[in-house]
Amino acid sequence: MEQKGVTLWFTGLSGAGKTTISRLVAAELGEKYGLRVQILDGDVLREEMGQDLGFTREERFRNIRRAAWFARTLNEHGVTVLASFITPYRDMRDHCRKQIARFYEIYVKCSVDDCIERDVKGLYKKALSGVIPRFTGISDPYEEPWNPDLTVDTSRDTPVESARQVLAFMERIGLLPVKREDELP
Ligand SMILES: Nc1ncnc2c1ncn2[C@@H]1O[C@H](COP(=O)(O)OP(=O)(O)OP(=O)(O)O)[C@@H](O)[C@H]1O
Ligand SMILES: [Mg+2]
Repeated sequence: MEQKGVTLWFTGLSGAGKTTISRLVAAELGEKYGLRVQILDGDVLREEMGQDLGFTREERFRNIRRAAWFARTLNEHGVTVLASFITPYRDMRDHCRKQIARFYEIYVKCSVDDCIERDVKGLYKKALSGVIPRFTGISDPYEEPWNPDLTVDTSRDTPVESARQVLAFMERIGLLPVKREDELP
């Protein structure tokens, strides 16, 4: 089936800002552009249908395969998908790119030190003390994207600035409707 929607795939460390940015972008896309948008969030997917999976490389990949299938299916129905998953390995992201016809990789870049300082969920503290094993950026790898479609630097910019950069990117490559509703005659 033809894939009509697009997927923006946010990759980056825990606490880098994937969820925060995708929520801001989703609100804008829905309210100002009238697009049908679905957020696919790593935490939610693991909670709702990934409880059988742990955090080995293989299990992480299986989690991503499910998410990619979802994104693809939603795209086929014309839904814009904002996917927020750490997606730490290049082969996982390559898999997504192959599966999803209109796939855009957005690297949410943030230093490990800044993520540790934010420690939004208190997970870095646990990872650093060894309570949580296989934690990305601490005791498990994160392979930085070589060729992301867009990089946002959240060590440097605010969430609103990062979200604006994503919207500007979408506009630049023609992913936004030309006329915004508030500009129609
Ligand atoms: N430019 C920015 N963009 C996004 N978040 C930012 C930015 N600057 C600071 N932050 C802060 O960083 C935190 C990011 O947390 P968030 O839950 O969005 O990360 P995440 O990448 O979804 O992590 P996880 O993989 O654990 O779900 C928030 O507290 C947010 O306010
Ligand atoms: Mg998140």
